[in-house]
Amino acid sequence: MNGTVRIGILGGGGILGAHAAGFQPLADGCRVVAVAEPDAARHARIRELLGPDVELAGDYPEVLDRDDVDAVDILLPHDLHLPATVAAAAAGKPVLVEKVMARNIYECDRMIEACQAAGVSLTVCHDRRYNGDWIALKEIVDSGVLGEILHWRLLHTQNVAPVASGRGKHWIADYDRLGGGAIMSCLTHQIDALRWYEGPVAAVTCMHKTVPERMEGESVGAVLAQMESGAMAELSISWITRSNTAASGLWYELNHVTGTRGEAYYSAGKGTFLLTYDAPAVDLPVGFESQASPVGMAFRQVVSDGVPGHVGCIREWVNHLRGRPADIRTSGLEARGTVEVAEAAYRSVETGRTVPLPIDPIPWRSS
Ligand SMILES: NC(=O)c1ccc[n+]([C@@H]2O[C@H](COP(=O)([O-])OP(=O)(O)OC[C@H]3O[C@@H](n4cnc5c(N)ncnc54)[C@H](O)[C@@H]3O)[C@@H](O)[C@H]2O)c1
Repeated sequence: MNGTVRIGILGGGGILGAHAAGFQPLADGCRVVAVAEPDAARHARIRELLGPDVELAGDYPEVLDRDDVDAVDILLPHDLHLPATVAAAAAGKPVLVEKVMARNIYECDRMIEACQAAGVSLTVCHDRRYNGDWIALKEIVDSGVLGEILHWRLLHTQNVAPVASGRGKHWIADYDRLGGGAIMSCLTHQIDALRWYEGPVAAVTCMHKTVPERMEGESVGAVLAQMESGAMAELSISWITRSNTAASGLWYELNHVTGTRGEAYYSAGKGTFLLTYDAPAVDLPVGFESQASPVGMAFRQVVSDGVPGHVGCIREWVNHLRGRPADIRTSGLEARGTVEVAEAAYRSVETGRTVPLPIDPIPWRSS
């Protein structure tokens, strides 16, 4: 595409703020011309975020029908990611779709097929892969300074209690609209990062807990993953804790990796830190070597450029649309692999067994 790329956004809810911040610095090369958002109560905020000239529409096909829209950014509830992507492809418009790509790999495959058939690109906004501090952790791991990677812990904590409105049940509380619960919706951030950091997942075991007064899908989940590399990983999500927002509280997201020669972690709001075991040797009391870090060993911060993930992702997507060099890390095919791990975790809950990957695609239960 030459000149200014004209973007249509489908869905103008909560995550629009992060996307608007991504498009705003790119005003020389792209312009958001229209947003589809049926909830009129959200229109004033959309204009605040994108300017008074942005055209507002209701249902998303209205934006796909516009000739002045070159590409679309899909910020819809998860059950609409498949139909909106298929319709965008049929309209000849390249797609950026928010995570999670779709509710299962069967839907991912339909999205990939539709975009391939139409000759348009499909990119998934897994923003963490473009976030400066998450990239810093990737660079530490890839440098080899940690030695052989043995263990990952990736944790996500929030308080998510969806409230029904005059329009009925919140889509996040609806199993069929969300595609399950917290694991598919948000632990997929951690699953995606684990695959990016450590490579393919070989098998998963999962347990989860549903709190029916909150939502139909699970609010708490824990996944154990055996990696093809030989490392093991623990991933967990809690949507029932306020620990990350309370004073002196705990993390929102924490990625911790341990290798044979050191450890590193990312903690949201704090940054990325590295500890190597090659610190100055000190004399320890006999028998305590395995229990304490030698005096003088300390995590040190690895400072990143601090670019927020959505800003980095949208910058690369717009570069790609403009035919410029672009570092797209999250194609539809790549993001499908993340949905597959989450779907395998659900099959582990259903069967009570460890589920090896790959798994077979099956249609969504209500389709
Ligand atoms: N990357 C992140 O950290 C992050 C954080 C939050 C949400 N998300 C993702 O963003 C996406 C949207 O989530 P959200 O939190 O903004 O949800 P939201 O409910 O705030 O927004 C969704 C919007 O879509 C609109 N919509 C529904 N049906 C529509 C239709 N037919 N046509 C046009 N618009 C329609 C709704 O009215 C609503 O305003 C999801 O994929 C979610 O997982 C990502």
